[in-house]
Amino acid sequence: MNTRHIITSETFARPWIEQIINRAEQFMQDGFVHTLPNKIIGTYFFEPSTRTRLSFTTAGYRLGAEVVGFDNVAGTSIAKGESLEDTIRMVSNYSDVIIMRHPETGSAKRAADIATVPVINAGDGANQHPSQTLLDLVTIKQALGRLDDFKILMIGDIEYSRVVHSLADTLKLFNNVEQVLINPMKESYQPYLADADIILVTRVQHERYSDAQAVAEFKESYCFSVADAQQMKSGAKIISPLPRLSELPTTLDLLPQAYYFQQAAFGVPVRAALLEYVLGVW
Ligand code: NCD
Repeated sequence: MNTRHIITSETFARPWIEQIINRAEQFMQDGFVHTLPNKIIGTYFFEPSTRTRLSFTTAGYRLGAEVVGFDNVAGTSIAKGESLEDTIRMVSNYSDVIIMRHPETGSAKRAADIATVPVINAGDGANQHPSQTLLDLVTIKQALGRLDDFKILMIGDIEYSRVVHSLADTLKLFNNVEQVLINPMKESYQPYLADADIILVTRVQHERYSDAQAVAEFKESYCFSVADAQQMKSGAKIISPLPRLSELPTTLDLLPQAYYFQQAAFGVPVRAALLEYVLGVW
């Protein structure tokens, strides 16, 4: 079997996505089983994370695996100047899968070129976040009951959001999905609210900017309001990878349109399905 890396959503095929989603939905319905006993999952995070790292970790434990790794580089030899390549060579010996988040575009591919075990890209700079895309697809399916024939409005930092990049690529695999991507610094999103089935709101990716003033202006340019939510069509949902800043105020949280906390919960079953796949359970 070729090593099953998950580096970019650009290589996803629809039947494979459907297998992952079906397995995730099976976990959601029937609970987890120990399909990964004696496996060691490695989570190697060079950038902050709450949901991605911990949902992979929980998924690993739910499947009976053990989990090792680091959640920042301060306590590792990277702080002494060790290269990404040498780090990957080492952790290939310590875990059966490498789940890596790193600030540089292309870092996941570099890791996969060296690793002797599967690499899952948990975010490489502003480039890609393929496991989030699978999570977003499960979310859309749970919300709408389908992955074809819908309209999605994506609002936020379109240029630097790896979540938007990965999802926008993948949605091209589905039929009659209309995508509208709005950078609120350049264009108002309000004209599109009433037509969208799914509205994805993302934060300013401030860690990718050197200009604090530009970040502040971007942040102030949008805040999804209760009045915005009231313009949405019946059954339409607001989703977000989180974390949120001021663009998704807490006043939205109890509205029926708000779906981002349910979405976050789908991270565990989706990542469990992905771990099973890369480790060859099916
Ligand atoms: C996203 C990420 O890291 O790209 N977070 C996540 O994985 N849930 C979105 C973000 O940080 O804005």
